[in-house]
Amino acid sequence: QTTTAFFALAAYLIGSISFAVVVSKAMGLPDPHSYGSGNPGATNVLRTGNRKAAVLTLLGDAFKGWLAVWLASLFGPDYGLDQTGVAIVIVAVFLGHLFPIFHRFAGGKGVATAAGILFAVHPWLGLATLATWLIIALFLRYSSLAALVSAVFAPFFYVLLFGTTPIALAISVMAALLVLRHRSNITKLLAGTESRIGDKKK
Ligand code: G3P
Repeated sequence: QTTTAFFALAAYLIGSISFAVVVSKAMGLPDPHSYGSGNPGATNVLRTGNRKAAVLTLLGDAFKGWLAVWLASLFGPDYGLDQTGVAIVIVAVFLGHLFPIFHRFAGGKGVATAAGILFAVHPWLGLATLATWLIIALFLRYSSLAALVSAVFAPFFYVLLFGTTPIALAISVMAALLVLRHRSNITKLLAGTESRIGDKKK
């Protein structure tokens, strides 16, 4: 289907803009691939000590996820994009963030982008998942653990709210990819060597 392919390609390209790289360049910070975890994401940008850059990265990466799904949900139906099409768009924008064509396919772990996507699917879904993230992040101060727990909960929140639809499958695929991208964090968490939110880069 041409419409689905068009929206999916547009979503992948939007997802491919790495705000960690763009914001760092604009603010004269080193490339996020070169320090800390090497991950182009808000958590790693925070390791420079520049909170503004980290917040802008978080907002930018979340916004692109939100935008792609919002555009597909708003304009898609006029061109025959159904719910399966929106589900494909969700996976496409997420894959853009993980494997960005503009940054030699060296993308991030998907946490902020997933949050934006979930808010675009439904604000309640976004809020429930964000609340889960905040509880873990505030009490345990591990960004990665907060992301992992929220990712596992997100598909359940969706199914509880809206039932089993193609979008439930897309959110499950997204959650599985997010967990896979956190393999090095899982190893560090188990070894007790994972850095906590607020720790500076080494
Ligand atoms: O946003 C990704 C976060 O969950 C982990 O990032 O840099 O600690 O590997 P990082």
